[in-house]
Amino acid sequence: MALESILSPNLAQNLLSLYGSPLYVYNGDSLRETIEHITKAIPYPQTQFCFASVTNGNISLLRIFRDAHWSLHANTPGDIYLGLKAGFEPQHIVYSGSNLNREEMAQVLNWGVSVLNLDSLSQLDLCCEVYQSLPLNAKPPNLRLGLRLNEPTLTGDSRIGVGPQEFPEAIAITQSAKLKLSGLHFYRGTGTNATKAFTQVIDSILAIGEQLPDWKYLDFGGGFGYPYVHGGAAFDWYEFGQVLTERLNQQGGGIDLVIEPGRAACAGCAILLTTVVSIKWQGEKQIVGVDTTVANLSVPSVHGRYREIVGLTAPISDTLYLTDVCGNTTYSGDYLGRNRPLPKLAIGDILAILDVGAYGYAMSSHFLHRLRPAEVLWEQNQHRLIRHREDYQVLLVNQHI
Ligand SMILES: Cc1ncc(COP(=O)(O)O)c(C=O)c1O
Repeated sequence: MALESILSPNLAQNLLSLYGSPLYVYNGDSLRETIEHITKAIPYPQTQFCFASVTNGNISLLRIFRDAHWSLHANTPGDIYLGLKAGFEPQHIVYSGSNLNREEMAQVLNWGVSVLNLDSLSQLDLCCEVYQSLPLNAKPPNLRLGLRLNEPTLTGDSRIGVGPQEFPEAIAITQSAKLKLSGLHFYRGTGTNATKAFTQVIDSILAIGEQLPDWKYLDFGGGFGYPYVHGGAAFDWYEFGQVLTERLNQQGGGIDLVIEPGRAACAGCAILLTTVVSIKWQGEKQIVGVDTTVANLSVPSVHGRYREIVGLTAPISDTLYLTDVCGNTTYSGDYLGRNRPLPKLAIGDILAILDVGAYGYAMSSHFLHRLRPAEVLWEQNQHRLIRHREDYQVLLVNQHI
């Protein structure tokens, strides 16, 4: 059930009194339901589900994925580091990132990560070179190397990946390191709700994979959308899973599948609670000041993405006012929401910004030197702190004073 409907005004108030306002609250029960929904939607037996932790690196949430037998998708060495700390085995981490330097490449291999999808021939070359230089006992066993695909008709205009015309050179690079190129990685770009945008490219992608003589696995990304506008277009996991399974079975069923959802897996499991600290009216418009900022949740303002905002404590009223929900800085873009229909609010009212589980805390920053909120996990009617609220000390970290 959605958190905003579980949280009574008293409970919301209670959480804020205990942990401070603003506050990220995650619903562990609904996260598990989403994980199960996605897992069941793809019946293809050789599927490795990997949570893309670029969206949320909280260790307690990563453990929920691990306990559900998901693997981890890492964009960066930092993702891997957090994944290992959360208890993922290195062989259950798939790396598909960009532009590692030599030390980082060595670190990734030393950690034992054994599936790497590389973004360019030079990254592939570096990976093979570093791999060869490792002592035998430090080489990750069963290393699987793949290429990230760049094919504008399928991947759009993207800086990422390698074109099929580069495959022969890529194969030569891996062969000279006595390795095989066994993977193809496709990433459609983030936040796509149109299921067809994925299903209609499957055949073309499989045909491209066939161009790799040692092809063993297909990593189909990432990029699956989430319906932030409730009732709006939503990615259909079942349709996608059926079509993909059918095509892979037609292929003979010998290709392993990797799926690495980020946003689709965790966006809906969290809300950001915030308290109204100021009210003013500009003509007919209600201007509400809250105690959070786009530095705590950059998505709505910086990326122009919509997040629903609901009043948890405001009296239920039929009269709604066009409302701007404004952050607690003077940054001109500090809007958590604009032109939202909300009841007349009062100082002290609690608002919930919905669907902030993905790219929420993970993209928060110290821009404007506002501190980051605490994070709380709600499970089976219990709550527990999973990350402390920051204090001003954090602004001094690593500074020479
Ligand atoms: C390679 C790759 N896979 C998966 C993801 C997760 O994307 P999404 O949240 O759109 O599913 C990303 C996001 O950057 C990515 O780069």
